[in-house]
Amino acid sequence: MTTRLNGRLRLGVNIDHVATVRNARGGPVPDPLRAARLAEAAGADGITAHLREDRRHITDSDIDALMECLTLPLNLEMAATEEMRAIALRHKPHAVCVVPEKREERTTEGGLDILREEARLRDFIAPLAEAGCRVSMFIAADRAQIEAAHRIGAPVIEIHTGGYCDAEVAGDALARDAELARIVEMAAFAKELGLEVHAGHGLTYESVGPVAAIPELAELNIGHFLIGEAIFVGLEAAIRRMRAAMDAARALAARPD
Ligand code: PXP
Repeated sequence: MTTRLNGRLRLGVNIDHVATVRNARGGPVPDPLRAARLAEAAGADGITAHLREDRRHITDSDIDALMECLTLPLNLEMAATEEMRAIALRHKPHAVCVVPEKREERTTEGGLDILREEARLRDFIAPLAEAGCRVSMFIAADRAQIEAAHRIGAPVIEIHTGGYCDAEVAGDALARDAELARIVEMAAFAKELGLEVHAGHGLTYESVGPVAAIPELAELNIGHFLIGEAIFVGLEAAIRRMRAAMDAARALAARPD
């Protein structure tokens, strides 16, 4: 997912939690590949899948199937480990998003600390970039982390929107607005450095608008909420509504006052 098709904000649909439901019973259904195909029909621009070290949702065979059958670009989320890099180099997905990973966490908490391991991460991503993968670093909206991502040669960052979304859900308008202001400022800063800027984590119909309106963003990656909504309205309808909310926010932001 490298470009902004028709200038519009791209939507990457994360299908991890289709696999979570499947794995609850250990059988073949629901099938993440079927979800990916439906996502494409509903207007997704790409599919995102996180192959975790513990394989709690997406598995190696899901990645095999997605790479073999998917027509949309795959964004493979993974920790910066040798095992994951070998898998990515074998498949050469369109994009690789490097994320922090702790076994005990329920979901990806916070962004990468690139400053703490800058040299290692530079060496880690170099072969992925050479193999043609668009490498993205999942980080907080933090100036020093953005500068570090730029220094190590990552062409893309994904800004963690979890803090903003948590504040929105908690009804803490002050914290929500502060988090949003930071994302707005740091998206502009990253774009100025020449980085492509993505965002994601925790986004819902309610929280997506102000993020989608940030003109520097090229892509949002959204998963858990969409898969949850799919229980009630179906996956295609949930994705279409999210797509419409993103487009409406963009159109409104682009209108002259
Ligand atoms: N972007 C990244 C880098 C993530 O790790 C995740 C969660 O796997 C998402 C986006 C999607 O977050 P959510 O499932 O909360 O929409």
